[in-house]
Amino acid sequence: MELLEAIKKRKSIRAYLPDSVSQETLRELLRAAVLAPSGSNSQPYKFYVVAGQRKKQVDAVLLNCLDESRTTSNELHMQREGGDEKAQERISARRTELTRAIMGILNENDLPLELFARGSFHYFGAPVAIFVTMDQSLGENYILSIGAAIENLILAAVEKGLGTCWIGMSLMYSKEIKETLGIPATERIITSLALGYPDGNAPINSFKASRDPLETFVQWIGCD
Ligand SMILES: Cc1cc2nc3c(=O)[nH]c(=O)nc-3n(C[C@H](O)[C@H](O)[C@H](O)COP(=O)(O)O)c2cc1C
Repeated sequence: MELLEAIKKRKSIRAYLPDSVSQETLRELLRAAVLAPSGSNSQPYKFYVVAGQRKKQVDAVLLNCLDESRTTSNELHMQREGGDEKAQERISARRTELTRAIMGILNENDLPLELFARGSFHYFGAPVAIFVTMDQSLGENYILSIGAAIENLILAAVEKGLGTCWIGMSLMYSKEIKETLGIPATERIITSLALGYPDGNAPINSFKASRDPLETFVQWIGCD
């Protein structure tokens, strides 16, 4: 598959078949991930690839935290004081739009709204969850290198016929995830992913998020 084709084809997948993903395939995806550039070639990440009973265990812990409205422990506190209110408003409007669109699809298909509302807390039923950590002594700039690695992984997944959904929501219970998986306290969970074969019949997967026109983001400076 051509790279641009994979980039255009990729979208977040929120319903999966139960089929497991082979070790060989997972290794190939992880090899693609670590081929991404990283600051000073630091390769600052650790990947915890979770499947089978251990995946079910994490799902159960997260759903329980959600049901008990546990105190949150997200380790990515990146919001800064001040700044432009419009930036926050734009993101908030985008979130509302996304939620409405997905809830709309579920409604039309007489499906429970919790498929989306709780989905992030069990990785939308994916057979594999990947947690990416870095040492807590490392600064925020290293997070960029993790983003690059994840993007490589998810594009390689497209080529393999696999689907992914980047999951940030469940990290509000990072402390519990780390306890469950034995991730050292010296590491910070930066992000996580759901991974598996897409359920092509699930209405939720028919959703394709839109993008604003380039003019919204791009300033041309000295480019004729
Ligand atoms: C850092 C990050 C965190 C995300 N967390 C979640 C999440 O917790 N739950 C979810 O359903 N989607 C999550 N997403 C997926 C976004 O909602 C999705 O990428 C966006 O709506 C654009 O849709 P697309 O990926 O289908 O193009 C996350 C994406 C990123 C990059």
